[in-house]
Amino acid sequence: MCGIVGYVGKRPAQSILLDGLKKLEYRGYDSAGIVVCDKGQLHLEKTLGKIENLERAIKNKNWQSTLGMAHTRWATHGKPSDRNAHPHTDCKGELVIVHNGIIENYQKLKQALQKKGHQFKSETDSEVIAHLIEENYRGDLGAAVRQSLSRLEGTYGIAVIHVKHPDVLIAARKGSPVVIGLKENEHFVASDVTPLVSHTKDVIYLEDGEIAEITPSSYHISTINNEKREPAINHVEWEIAEAEKQGYDHYMLKEIFEEPDAARNAMLGRVIPEEGLAHLGGLNMNDDEMREVKRIVIVACGSALYAARAGEYMIEKYADIPVEVEYASEFRYRDPVIDQGTLVFAISQSGETADTLAAMKEAKRKGARVLGIVNVVGSTIARESDGGTYIHAGPEIGVASTKAFTGQLTILAILALQFGRLKNMPFSTGQKLVKELKTIPQKIESILEQDKAIKQLAESYAQYKNFFFLGRGANYPIALEGALKLKEVSYVHAEAYPMAELKHGPIALIDRNFPSFVIVPKDSYYEKNISNVQEIKARDGRMIAVATKGDSNISNLVDEVIYVPKTLDLLIPLLTVVPLHLFAYHLAVALKRDVDKPRNLAKSVTVE
Ligand code: G6P
Repeated sequence: MCGIVGYVGKRPAQSILLDGLKKLEYRGYDSAGIVVCDKGQLHLEKTLGKIENLERAIKNKNWQSTLGMAHTRWATHGKPSDRNAHPHTDCKGELVIVHNGIIENYQKLKQALQKKGHQFKSETDSEVIAHLIEENYRGDLGAAVRQSLSRLEGTYGIAVIHVKHPDVLIAARKGSPVVIGLKENEHFVASDVTPLVSHTKDVIYLEDGEIAEITPSSYHISTINNEKREPAINHVEWEIAEAEKQGYDHYMLKEIFEEPDAARNAMLGRVIPEEGLAHLGGLNMNDDEMREVKRIVIVACGSALYAARAGEYMIEKYADIPVEVEYASEFRYRDPVIDQGTLVFAISQSGETADTLAAMKEAKRKGARVLGIVNVVGSTIARESDGGTYIHAGPEIGVASTKAFTGQLTILAILALQFGRLKNMPFSTGQKLVKELKTIPQKIESILEQDKAIKQLAESYAQYKNFFFLGRGANYPIALEGALKLKEVSYVHAEAYPMAELKHGPIALIDRNFPSFVIVPKDSYYEKNISNVQEIKARDGRMIAVATKGDSNISNLVDEVIYVPKTLDLLIPLLTVVPLHLFAYHLAVALKRDVDKPRNLAKSVTVE
């Protein structure tokens, strides 16, 4: 969703900001804007559509200003347009803001400001912030920002510039992330670390209710009530190369090829083969506390939710603890029962998903201990949870989650093992599970070797308008993930069902033009799955099977087969998902979709 980058230093800001915007593209956006402040004047440009449009518009400007900020907007209030794009100015054109989040009381504030004579130029909620600061400005910009923020309801990550303060950039946060980048004689502001890592690894994550006033040589962090804060300086581990395409056509393909590493990194230092044990240190729970867990609730959205659903099977089977997986966006509205023995997990790649955060807060309000399973280090969910674990998948740039999904599944398998061994899981089962887990990265690599064949397959299916994805047990969530991925990146209609559910209605749709992906590994459900495959075949349904290597029988029943190696039943999802990710990617490329930035989607959805 919306992205912010700001700079104050000694170098011309223009190219630093444009470069920063490009790094933020992955978040999803529909318009972009930039402003620099030079000799008492603001230079501002905003354009609908891609950053290239903005780049073209300012190509010959060559502004030399060393203070500026830029924004990518993902429309919430007011349609995507030049006018609604950020930055937004006050009436005098002296002050300018960029904003991520939603101001819930903007209409009331706007009416009051209009009565005082303020002229609004856009339909956005954000513009009200500029006018409010203008109204409160008496020469002290920090004071005006503080006073104004105390009137806002909703969420914000903002940056502010005023022509009368030509070397000051102010940023503030409530519910929408803001990171300050530190470097000698220059400072940065951004909505996440991606535009910063090529300049500096030293960052401060603002807390909710904090304001940063930065100049080229200083930074001052305080609260909205002007109490000074001594923030921790964090060192970002990500390398810039990790956030680049490295020769791949798209980030999505690169990230699918990083799935073996995602599994490897999630396991690193966390499993003990000789003892058949696992240990996730960051959970902040001792063994007794873990043994007392009677029920686990997992909240998440999108792909993270489907990883959770596969994890549900793993934890219930290995650890014997009942698990409920809830749409984070619905959690609050169900009046969920949280008792003493309930442990809540929030799973999120970005760690910023507003629905997941809201669910997490609701669970905390009800007294639950909430642990995060997160990829982005220092993100809000990571910081606001009572503990948890990073999946360490590295930056995921493609909007559709792939390697993070694999990382999440791996962590869930490790959790199942850790809880299981503290309860009834025998040593031998633990050892077998660790041993098999260790082979998963290599097994994923062997699936990736079939990339060419899967590409050809996807191309030959590119004309179909509808797909079913069908699976049983822990492979039903994988069917859901396969269908979601196809919808997200190719805009082709896909629906997932539990394998046996097809006959209860959806089978009416089956004909030669409605292909089904059937996930039918050689697990304990194999025979049952084959009966369902027969049902589809009997109706002349076209099928692509994801099956276990060596299963020669399956090719007599279906049109195409993608083979995956053999593994333990509950680890199979870590393998079966890979061909589905590749298929969705190649089909989207065949349809010439904007794979890394699919229409209407955002990587980090920071509104509820
Ligand atoms: C968005 C993305 C999805 C992602 C979901 C959850 O909708 O488009 O790909 O799965 O958010 O994101 P999270 O960062 O919480 O895992």
